[in-house]
Amino acid sequence: MNARAADPLMQPFDLRHLRLRNRIVSTSHEPAYAEDGLPKRRYALYHAEKAKGGAALTMIGGSAVVAPDSPPSFGNLHLYEDEIVPWLGRVAEAVHEHGAYVMCQITHLGRRTSNYSGDWLPLVAASPLKERAHRAMPKQAEEWDLRRIAAAYADAARRCQAGGMDGIEIEAYGHLFDGFLSPATNLREDEWGGSPENRLRFPSMVVRAIREAVGPDFIVGLRPAVDDLLPGGLSAAEGMEAMRRLVADGIDFVSVIRGHIDTDAGLAKVIPPTGTPSAPHLDFAGEVRAALGIPVMHASRIADVATARHAVANGLVDLVGMTRAHLADPHLASKIAAGQEHRIRPCVGAGYCLDAIYQGSDTKCIHNPSTGRELHLPHTVTRTERTAKRVVVVGAGPAGLEAARVLGERGHAVTVFEAAHAPGGQLLLASRAPARRELIGIVDWRITELEGLNVKVRYNAYADEESVLAHEPDVVIVATGGVPDTTQLGLGAAARHVIDAWDVLSGAKAPRGDVLLYDDNGGHAGLDAARALIEAGTVLEYVTPERMLGPDIGGINYPLYAKVFAEADTRTTLLHELRSVESRPDGKLRALLYSEHADREVERIVDHVVVEQGTMPNDELYFGLLPGSTNLGEVDHQALLDLRPQTVHRNAAGGYQLFRIGDAVSSRNVHAAIYDAFRLCLAI
Ligand SMILES: Cc1cc2nc3c(=O)[nH]c(=O)nc-3n(C[C@H](O)[C@H](O)[C@H](O)COP(=O)(O)O)c2cc1C
Ligand code: SF4
Repeated sequence: MNARAADPLMQPFDLRHLRLRNRIVSTSHEPAYAEDGLPKRRYALYHAEKAKGGAALTMIGGSAVVAPDSPPSFGNLHLYEDEIVPWLGRVAEAVHEHGAYVMCQITHLGRRTSNYSGDWLPLVAASPLKERAHRAMPKQAEEWDLRRIAAAYADAARRCQAGGMDGIEIEAYGHLFDGFLSPATNLREDEWGGSPENRLRFPSMVVRAIREAVGPDFIVGLRPAVDDLLPGGLSAAEGMEAMRRLVADGIDFVSVIRGHIDTDAGLAKVIPPTGTPSAPHLDFAGEVRAALGIPVMHASRIADVATARHAVANGLVDLVGMTRAHLADPHLASKIAAGQEHRIRPCVGAGYCLDAIYQGSDTKCIHNPSTGRELHLPHTVTRTERTAKRVVVVGAGPAGLEAARVLGERGHAVTVFEAAHAPGGQLLLASRAPARRELIGIVDWRITELEGLNVKVRYNAYADEESVLAHEPDVVIVATGGVPDTTQLGLGAAARHVIDAWDVLSGAKAPRGDVLLYDDNGGHAGLDAARALIEAGTVLEYVTPERMLGPDIGGINYPLYAKVFAEADTRTTLLHELRSVESRPDGKLRALLYSEHADREVERIVDHVVVEQGTMPNDELYFGLLPGSTNLGEVDHQALLDLRPQTVHRNAAGGYQLFRIGDAVSSRNVHAAIYDAFRLCLAI
């Protein structure tokens, strides 16, 4: 048997009557791709891509809701409507066609949603405790609620079965179901609370109602926090005992969770981002598997194949969840099977996928623009059928590298100029912070992918018009990024007294003493700089005109910064603009902050003022090349969106097409830069 055939990850697994082709699973998650609460074509294609990519099982409908008094908190499926059945059927068909199985997670969100959405029905929970993350106050569920909701679970499960799902899974962490199990969230003194027996009554009623509705042959799983890690909460010992009881009620598999999700800090431990240890709960999953003796799956930052293989090889899990890893690369399993592990686009733990849904948007992977856009964008790049072109790409940041990769895959001859000694652009800076080091994977993967393509990357090569034109290019892509520009502050000559976040992140400047950091951008750069300053021992005041700290940073990434701010007791001043900075005879700086609300200025005397404002385009080369281009830089937006070639011709004397992408256009994030590059270059 060759090594690949013996790979523990590639061994089939029998989950009751289903023979799964390998051990790799995408666990339940809601990408917020539902339309009107239904899994329409976009939803189906997103999951079908993973099936096409070799996964054994994909779980849909993260937190699909069973009743209208559980309104979606992030675009979840409406399992309480019969209308969903044929749509589930289409998803099942699309996944089965590629040899994978598909199950749906079902839930009643309890207090983990909003009182002010959907049908505006009052929320219910075991006890009337507010959940901080959603800020909703539930009522204590009455007996008629519990009977009604158990029946709704059963009806939802039946709909999944009728829609051709291969099974369901009950969400049981942070929602209504487990709210009863945990003494931290169940304070009742009636027959539904108090003793372990009483706290199990509702969960057990739900499992039995579902089992009765779907019969003995349909797979019913549970995704519980076996140990919720809450003070006075469900301990591992009690959790394990509760699981035994629920297995006896009809559960076929357990997808192990450890921890709680009612706060950002808790959520980030259950779904850990970059800067945290790999697979933190894997050994615990192994303990659950040993104790329960039924199939166990588990997902929590098992992002690389070696850890996944270890999990299965050492009997810690039967099925390994690699959920964000599939968002980054839905073809992960087939690449393993083909001996191409080194080509898997890595999940770098950026948390952009989760931050997006918690900010009311849909899931996007920071460096895979095709994920969730399968309706319009392919995951693989095919060679052009037209004549190969000579292309010059200027800049090897995320936009430039993505352009080079796609153009190389298309079969073009590409030269990349990079002024620095290494690729990465702003990602080089971002990944200097130890907690965000993994972001460099976005760069490294692209550099590896360039091997074997007709792409030459020249470092320490500052491109000017002459050097670009010396290559006689058919196409020039300017991906020169942006640079911080403190003149935008309106400080006039005083701008010379401030330093920018890049100076801090790169280590070019090392402010000491009292530092005022003014963040008028609200993204990672400002908070990374703040963290670097705190860790360097400065006494920092973080000032922003925003209503909150880092509005572009969602719940998963927030804790990385919040921890450092809390530990250092960092002074934070919201809703203030930086008005002026002047130097004083004693060498200190006097900064004036202005509150529009109070119409007043306040003074700060500090050693340094650091400013983060995003970047201004580094566009000199672009404008220099513009007159010699055929399109004068113009982009046909409709053609871009339709993935058709750009055919704008404005200048008969022009010799090449000219485009600019990423921050060379305007200050935006990594996803925007890569998306710019991908869709433009797919059609070249
Ligand atoms: C966008 C997104 C939405 C999620 N929604 C749910 C959900 O609704 N229910 C659930 O049980 N887990 C949800 N999860 C958690 C995943 O199933 C998984 O446990 C988590 O991503 C950790 O596994 P990973 O490190 O392999 O990604 C979500 C994850 C992501 C990335
Ligand atoms: S956004 Fe980051 S965490 Fe999410 S899938 Fe992509 S690389 Fe992984």
